[in-house]
Amino acid sequence: MQTLLLLPGLLHDVRIWQYQALALADCARIVICDLTQADTIAAMAASVLAAAPEGKFALAGLSMGGYVALEIMRQAPERISGLALLDTSARPDTELTRENRYAAIQQARTNFKQVVDDLIPKQLTPEHGEDERLVRLIHDMASSLGEKVFARQQNAMSNRIDSVPFLSAIKCPTLVLCGREDAITPLGLHQEMVSEIPHAGLVIVNDCGHLSVIEKPLRVNEALTRWLDGIMANNQQ
Ligand code: MLT
Repeated sequence: MQTLLLLPGLLHDVRIWQYQALALADCARIVICDLTQADTIAAMAASVLAAAPEGKFALAGLSMGGYVALEIMRQAPERISGLALLDTSARPDTELTRENRYAAIQQARTNFKQVVDDLIPKQLTPEHGEDERLVRLIHDMASSLGEKVFARQQNAMSNRIDSVPFLSAIKCPTLVLCGREDAITPLGLHQEMVSEIPHAGLVIVNDCGHLSVIEKPLRVNEALTRWLDGIMANNQQ
């Protein structure tokens, strides 16, 4: 059975991948990685590689997890059998995004709950923003990690490098998936990645924002299952 490493995004614990961990358990050995301790994207990538099981693995990253997945691709391409980039970007931060991150870090020191409240309308579609179950999950994960993790992850993201020049070197089967209404990493950024990565396919999930894995888990699971099947077929050639 192949191994699948799942990389969470900002302020996510293992619960962000709960639906995929259940649905994909029959076709892959699932490992949900911890991206809460390191304070650069390169160090997050190194920590994932250090903790990864022996041999090759498939790698799926959501948002910040996608930034880390692209860095792992640079550090150890020979370990990766397939790559899935979900609601993410290969580009670095703009100056404005960086300033917004630093302001949010400051605000989180005194009012972390408000910072999380302000994130939710950017992360979910308006309809999903009304779903108490989803909103509670986002708050529960955020409060289990706290503002120190928030600051570390925001600093790491603000200093990440431009991955666009490296995309054409990615040779494994690659799934690029995006919620059509993703307001944080919009569709155009995913179309750009697909045009640069040689073996990439794009899946657009309708009625879905930035947190596709919890907003539309069935659609995401279908896409990931097809991608994992493709990796298996590729390995048998
Ligand atoms: C995430 O969901 O991981 C972050 O919102 C990504 C970002 O802020 O760039």
